[in-house]
Amino acid sequence: MTKIIHVKTREEMSAIAAKMIKEQINAKPDSVLGLATGSTPELTYAELCSMCERGEVDFSKVKTVNLDEYVGLDETNDQSYRYYMNSHLFDKVNIKPENTHLPCGTADNADAACDEYSELLEKIGTRDIQLLGIGKNGHIGFCEPDTELEARTSVVALTDSTLKANSRFFESVDAMPKKAMTMGMAQIFDAKQIILIAYGKEKVDIVTRALTGKITTNIPASLLQLHMNVTAIIADE
Ligand code: GLP
Repeated sequence: MTKIIHVKTREEMSAIAAKMIKEQINAKPDSVLGLATGSTPELTYAELCSMCERGEVDFSKVKTVNLDEYVGLDETNDQSYRYYMNSHLFDKVNIKPENTHLPCGTADNADAACDEYSELLEKIGTRDIQLLGIGKNGHIGFCEPDTELEARTSVVALTDSTLKANSRFFESVDAMPKKAMTMGMAQIFDAKQIILIAYGKEKVDIVTRALTGKITTNIPASLLQLHMNVTAIIADE
């Protein structure tokens, strides 16, 4: 069942998501968190950093697994998701670097690296919380709309819609990787609780279709309606 929390601002959305994550860690210090990137979770991470600085939350036993990574970008590239996570969260809280995981975008053999990531997810076990954003086309992680969706971590070709949306972070669409590695749908679902966050007019239509419309692989986020514990925090602006 999906619980939908409607708020006005991105700040309110982020404060609620950060509080839920903080409470999870305080209840279980060795929690496993599934984390997302993109502009949507930035303030949630900033809030968690402030909470950690104030001593309200302790990341020393927390483990994290991220949803995805661009193929070809390493951690020194400021558009890689490893760089994003280090700069928005990991470098600013007391998490152990060895407890943070993302698919390796620069592996010689990308398919083998995806299989390794799937093995890692199995070893780490069910996540306590999975944080998710949503793409304008309804993707979660980089699970793009299609007639069939991958269950496990795999290399995906990014759709034109995603290339266009995410090119805002790069110099041009040409400068953007055209492929990414992403957790598969079964792996995204392997979380006790899922928190979906989204803000702004641009996302209203897709969020409404995903959360209340028909369930279809053409909107991967619509499958979240089948998960037992989803909280969607949606902000108007
Ligand atoms: C990216 C990420 C997703 C993210 C989405 C939305 O491509 N792979 O995990 O949820 O796009 O991004 P944004 O939050 O910038 O709108």
